[in-house]
Amino acid sequence: MKTRLLFFIASLMILIISCQTEKKKTPDKEDKIGPRIDSIVSLMTLEEKIGQLTLYTSDMDQTGAFIRKEYEEDIKQGRVGAIFNAYGVAYTRKLQELNLQNSRLKIPLLFGYDVIHGHRTIFPVPLAEAASWDLDAIEKSARIAAIEATAEGLHWTFAPMCDISVDPRWGRVVEGAGEDTYLGSRIAEARVKGFQGQSLGDDNTLVACVKHFAAYGASQAGRDYHTVDMSERKLREVYLPPYKAAVDAGALTVMTSFNDLNGVPATASKFLMTDILREEWGFEGFVVTDYTSIMELLHHGVAADTLESSSLSIHAGVDMDMQSGFYQTALARLVENKKVDEQLINTAVKRILKVKFLLGLFDDPFRYCSPEREANEIMTTEFLVSAQDMARKSIVLLKNENQLLPLDPKLKTIAVIGPLADSKRDMIGSWSAAGDWSKSVSLLDGIKTKLPYTTILYTKGCDVDGENKDDFMNAIEIARKSDAVVLALGEAFWMSGEAASRTMLDLPGVQQKLAEAIFATGKPVVAVLMNGRPLTINWLDENVPAILETWFLGTTAGDAIADVLFGDYNPSGKLPMTFPKNVGQIPIHYNMRNTGRPFKAQDKYTSKYLDVSNEPLYPFGYGLSYTSFSYSEVELNNTSISENESVEASVVITNTGKYAGEEVVQLYLSDKVASVTRPVKELKGFKKIMLQPGESQKVMFSIGKDALSFYKEDMIYGVEAGNLEVMIGTNSAQTKSAFFSLK
Ligand code: NOJ
Repeated sequence: MKTRLLFFIASLMILIISCQTEKKKTPDKEDKIGPRIDSIVSLMTLEEKIGQLTLYTSDMDQTGAFIRKEYEEDIKQGRVGAIFNAYGVAYTRKLQELNLQNSRLKIPLLFGYDVIHGHRTIFPVPLAEAASWDLDAIEKSARIAAIEATAEGLHWTFAPMCDISVDPRWGRVVEGAGEDTYLGSRIAEARVKGFQGQSLGDDNTLVACVKHFAAYGASQAGRDYHTVDMSERKLREVYLPPYKAAVDAGALTVMTSFNDLNGVPATASKFLMTDILREEWGFEGFVVTDYTSIMELLHHGVAADTLESSSLSIHAGVDMDMQSGFYQTALARLVENKKVDEQLINTAVKRILKVKFLLGLFDDPFRYCSPEREANEIMTTEFLVSAQDMARKSIVLLKNENQLLPLDPKLKTIAVIGPLADSKRDMIGSWSAAGDWSKSVSLLDGIKTKLPYTTILYTKGCDVDGENKDDFMNAIEIARKSDAVVLALGEAFWMSGEAASRTMLDLPGVQQKLAEAIFATGKPVVAVLMNGRPLTINWLDENVPAILETWFLGTTAGDAIADVLFGDYNPSGKLPMTFPKNVGQIPIHYNMRNTGRPFKAQDKYTSKYLDVSNEPLYPFGYGLSYTSFSYSEVELNNTSISENESVEASVVITNTGKYAGEEVVQLYLSDKVASVTRPVKELKGFKKIMLQPGESQKVMFSIGKDALSFYKEDMIYGVEAGNLEVMIGTNSAQTKSAFFSLK
């Protein structure tokens, strides 16, 4: 009787709430939805509240039957708040209906998925997109991913990954924006804006999840899931800003990282999840764990059992438990035993309900379940064109001796060789969401489409990995018959991404040997690299005349690469991560601090190695074009400013070559004397400009307090008087300078 009455009241309340919420227009002010959330929470049992804090992966088999019976029951009883890895209108509708038709309070489920670089139309892997330095294009890529994902019932993506990393051994660098804090922050903002669109009330906006908070990219020795220990200065200066930029851009969820930070696992870190995220940054969304991180507190050795790890997490400020089921098992007992105050759980529930409200799910839980959208807004021609555009922009020209590229499309015979040349699967990279690799364009297909009347000879030459050289002779033979060779080398898609760290970054298997054999034919060779991280490719750099870094470019990869190879697109990408000469140099990045013994060739007792130089193979920000650009001297409008003034720095860039082309003009600053040691230089701005042959353009940067502030000796963030060097150039190692002082 009592239950029935409660159910009646609850249904009435929800009806009132739904009616009050204007259709299509979602309230975006907490003061409007706050009372509604409060009233729902006041009706919830403890079990239902804990249900909202519980996220499980989808659990149906091909026939639509639940694999774990208790899972179905959990949904029916309102013991699950969100589900991930379920997409498609029919599937998500089925789960939502199961929830709404059976659960007492009918609180809509939230559907999440790793939509990392496209949903169905796969865009370049995030590291590749970062190489475009094109924020509008990156935002657009995330927007298209959101349109497709939401057309298939999804509400929430586990992206963007905002982890800075200076360690290419770590396979997850493929998922980030590289090594730089400034570039990473701008890209994080662009991705959040793209996913979340104009208003979460629209039915094609996807809630973003900033991950992996925090400092996951600093895993010791580049080994995934490994431990992290760093100074608070480094954490705040280098690692935190991209997460903060994403939060400031409006991201509504944050994911904890797997690692510990200075002895405290992130998933148990009040310092990260509450002190920094909520109190310092004012984050108002909810925090979800990465996968079974609450359970993993046991392995970290900071909790002895389910109760203790759940208690640590909820007290740290972690709202939602992904997959470990620990909250579900332990929180009620913790409340009973007075180890956890129910208010803490209420707060977490409210944060989650708020996101569901903002998405409009209380208006219409099926608003993301449109069969029409699913039929019409997936892999449209427009999306494929954008994906190809993004792919072209992501390509970095690493070497082009004697202007070998672009190749003449009138060549009679071209050999396309290499283990990645005819691969479709690898093109969509790791974390490729619902991407169908069979729809992607391999390099071979791209070249054949571009040059229908040219003789294209293809052979694999060898596998990506392994020792087999059986196809070498064949490869040499077709190279000999050709006017030029396009050699596709690199890593398989699974060699980067999660749980894909490597200690050797040379080309795997016998690929270099294949390259040596082909090179020995004397034919002009273009190496097309495909990989998810910087590789050590000294031999290629020394020998092969032209090298294109193409990463994994997504569904339209082959067409995009063919556009660049044959001159329909002039490459403009710049490396978002340093390419080391060898693994022993790692971590190597452009913004290291100086030492007390800076390198001097003639002085043994300075900072260097005996066996390799301090210089990378290719520096951060590096990338060539088919044209050439000249930079004028840097001009400053002022050589002495006070704290609240700014300096305008300008350069004139001229296209001195014969192709129209884009250039990423990069601004770096160096603080000469400070209360603490400072990076030798730091990126503080960039502009991408297009110039016709012979055309010049003046590029201006304004340098003010934002660019000049840092954590001083006392850890107060601000500026110090002193001398600064302004450097502007085409990459981090090739710049022109001017100086000013801050009074
Ligand atoms: C583990 C990964 O670390 C994280 O990035 C991802 O979002 C979750 N699994 C869910 O798939």
